[in-house]
Amino acid sequence: MNILVVNGPNLNLLGTRKPDIYGTETLEELMMWLENSTESANHNFKFYQSNHEGEIIDTLHDERHWADGVLINAGAYTHYSYAIRDAIESIDIPAIEIHLSDPSKREDFRKTSVLSSVCIDTVSGLGKNSYLEGLKILIK
Ligand code: DQA
Repeated sequence: MNILVVNGPNLNLLGTRKPDIYGTETLEELMMWLENSTESANHNFKFYQSNHEGEIIDTLHDERHWADGVLINAGAYTHYSYAIRDAIESIDIPAIEIHLSDPSKREDFRKTSVLSSVCIDTVSGLGKNSYLEGLKILIK
């Protein structure tokens, strides 16, 4: 399968951003770990990170003919971006909503996801394993 991994705003700062919540590994380390996992063998990956809503949407559009599945951690856009929601719905590719932390156990504004209804599943609260568990759901 061709797997598109999209990371949204502030995830470029992983490693130093609130390590008590997000851990001490960088985004690059997390993505390399995912790509090198046993589960990833025989699958192709493209990794994107952007702090900009429109760029995330453009990436979903641009890769819609390549990708067979999407892992998306939209960061805070998860909680209010109807535009990213509509982009996921429009490309009609199975997408999994990913979170390192468990937003349901944090501030109230994080308890709403506008993406979950257009994603086939959500994996939260497992740190980097959220990406791996999301991948397992996509490839099964
Ligand atoms: C996050 C959770 C979001 O609420 C937050 O805005 C993020 C990261 C997570 O991976 O736990 O940027 O998506």
